[in-house]
Amino acid sequence: MAQLPLGDPAPKDGLLPVSALTHQDKSFHAYVHIPFCRVRCGYCDFNTYTATELKGVSQDSFAAQLIEEIRFSHRVLSESKFEPKPLSSVFFGGGTPTQLPASDLAAILGALIEAFGLERGIDGVPIAEITTEANPDNVDLEYLEQLKVAGFTRVSFGMQSAVTSVLKTLDRSHTPERVPLVVEWAKQVGLQTSVDLIYGAPGESIADWQASIDAALGYQTDHISAYSLIVEPGTKLARQIAAGELVEPDEDEQATKYELADAAFEAAGMRWYEVSNWSTSESTQSAHNLSYWQSKNWWGFGPGAHSHIGGVRWWNQKHPATYVAPLARGESPALGRETLDAKTQLEEQVLLMIRTKQGLPIQVLKDLAVFEPKLIAGLIADELIDAKSAMRGIIQLTLTGRLLADSVIRTLIA
Ligand SMILES: C[S@@+](CC[C@H](N)C(=O)[O-])C[C@H]1O[C@@H](n2cnc3c(N)ncnc32)[C@H](O)[C@@H]1O
Ligand code: SF4
Repeated sequence: MAQLPLGDPAPKDGLLPVSALTHQDKSFHAYVHIPFCRVRCGYCDFNTYTATELKGVSQDSFAAQLIEEIRFSHRVLSESKFEPKPLSSVFFGGGTPTQLPASDLAAILGALIEAFGLERGIDGVPIAEITTEANPDNVDLEYLEQLKVAGFTRVSFGMQSAVTSVLKTLDRSHTPERVPLVVEWAKQVGLQTSVDLIYGAPGESIADWQASIDAALGYQTDHISAYSLIVEPGTKLARQIAAGELVEPDEDEQATKYELADAAFEAAGMRWYEVSNWSTSESTQSAHNLSYWQSKNWWGFGPGAHSHIGGVRWWNQKHPATYVAPLARGESPALGRETLDAKTQLEEQVLLMIRTKQGLPIQVLKDLAVFEPKLIAGLIADELIDAKSAMRGIIQLTLTGRLLADSVIRTLIA
């Protein structure tokens, strides 16, 4: 499983340094990490645990313990005199949030609303985006109805592929037929919908991938994420590849699959707004993910969750058992934290904003003192960034640029 950064030890009282409190931006978002899965997919190294890995932590009492962190965060922010705006977005991720009963997700959301409130429109109606990730296997109509009643606005299903053999290679527990059902139920109760796809599973042909693209488009969701399969060290998939049982994804074929997906999504009226994300309109983009890419303020609740407020970043104890112990003593579950200096904050803006369609203002490169007109001209000549946007002072990746985003970043801030 991916390791947490080192940073400095986090204070037990959780109080924030003055630099974070005086920050101008008071927007506020919440991430809630639910670290449970029924089975672990062979490719996944997310911070998640199956029943046998939980070391005595009970899923039944998890929501109550997470609510303790919400109350703790409210105390910390009040004592620090940091008054955030009401929540603009809440995102339940995992793991598999829907591994918990809908009533637990509702209780956690209720505690967040009680502590921080939700952003409202001029008519007083909440306009905050509230999403949960869901495994197609463990939700039904009644479950989705309960989420809607609790205030959720959006659900993102881990579809991954429409091809049975690919789902099998990925160790997925659901069948392809399950996905259109759950999407339909979500629509019926009035939730916005998204599906996650993965391309490049060993043995996945171009025709398999095209079938997954076509199926996902056929479900007419508001949003699609398509991720290139990453072979994470330490996973079952990495071991299978090392043992020669499965073949590593081929980079050129991955690029072809990305181009196929982009062409099909765009032809169907879905526009890219981040390298791996497409939506039917601006209003169906993920406001929560945009908040990360725009370096906004968010509190990450739950084991291993990361938070960021005013240039201060911290991360929680990773295992559910070590996460709940300090909370029971009224102490912060944070493990480490760091204050980002101005240069690091600007570099992060480059890494995150360049991947969005909105693009990276050239001013950020100027502030970093790395602005080189010749380099920009070279990237335009190589058709990696868009010439017209550059004239307007924005670096926006072309299709080829999206495939080579890391190399564009290295060129700009090497
Ligand atoms: C937390 S999961 C989504 C919810 C639920 N756990 C599920 O999988 O159905 C988040 C998404 O990350 C993506 N993902 C996880 N590990 C990945 C990897 N190694 N390579 C590419 N995508 C990955 C998958 O598309 C997955 O749907
Ligand atoms: S269900 Fe989702 S979080 Fe759980 S192991 Fe699979 S991809 Fe990872």
